[in-house]
Amino acid sequence: MPTALITGGNRGLGLEAARQLAAAGYHVMLTARSAQAGAKAARALEVEFRPLDVSYPASITALAESLARDRLTLDVLINNAGVALEGFDARVAEETLAVNYFGAAALTDALLPRVADQGTVVMVSSGMGELSCVSAALREKLTAPELTARSSTS
Ligand SMILES: NC(=O)c1ccc[n+]([C@@H]2O[C@H](COP(=O)([O-])OP(=O)(O)OC[C@H]3O[C@@H](n4cnc5c(N)ncnc54)[C@H](OP(=O)(O)O)[C@@H]3O)[C@@H](O)[C@H]2O)c1
Repeated sequence: MPTALITGGNRGLGLEAARQLAAAGYHVMLTARSAQAGAKAARALEVEFRPLDVSYPASITALAESLARDRLTLDVLINNAGVALEGFDARVAEETLAVNYFGAAALTDALLPRVADQGTVVMVSSGMGELSCVSAALREKLTAPELTARSSTS
């Protein structure tokens, strides 16, 4: 049975992705930052729950260690957890990046050793993340074949 792990699975798109993957025959690991909300959602779908707050490195490490302990391999990793906060100031920018970018990147780095060779990593984003939203010059830098996760585009 293929295995899928979803972040922010207690509501919204993550919950629906968990529901559809379970219906398609996946072993679904629904994760959420609220143990209560996550466990309730997982119970309703009859899938497994594991706690995860993507903005806390210790939470990511704990999840990665639990997957390793259970010798689990992921066929699908869905980075769905995200925030859309009201207004815009330094706090909003910092919190948004902590969850929507650094959280997804850190979780993916931590779980890659457990993703199957032919596995799929999904980054749920928005129109704001589309390459068509940035300048032609930046688009060229971001699509350069030599670009890696550790490259600088400056
Ligand atoms: N719906 C749209 O139209 C739309 C449009 C563009 C992009 N997106 C993207 O699609 C994804 C899902 O959207 P949605 O509409 O389903 O959002 P949503 O209903 O607000 O759900 C967001 C989920 O992310 C979780 N989350 C937030 N911060 C987290 C953290 N630090 N660690 C773990 N989980 C965290 C939330 O948990 P809590 O319940 O604990 O808050 C919730 O489960 C997001 O990445 C969003 O940016 C959605």
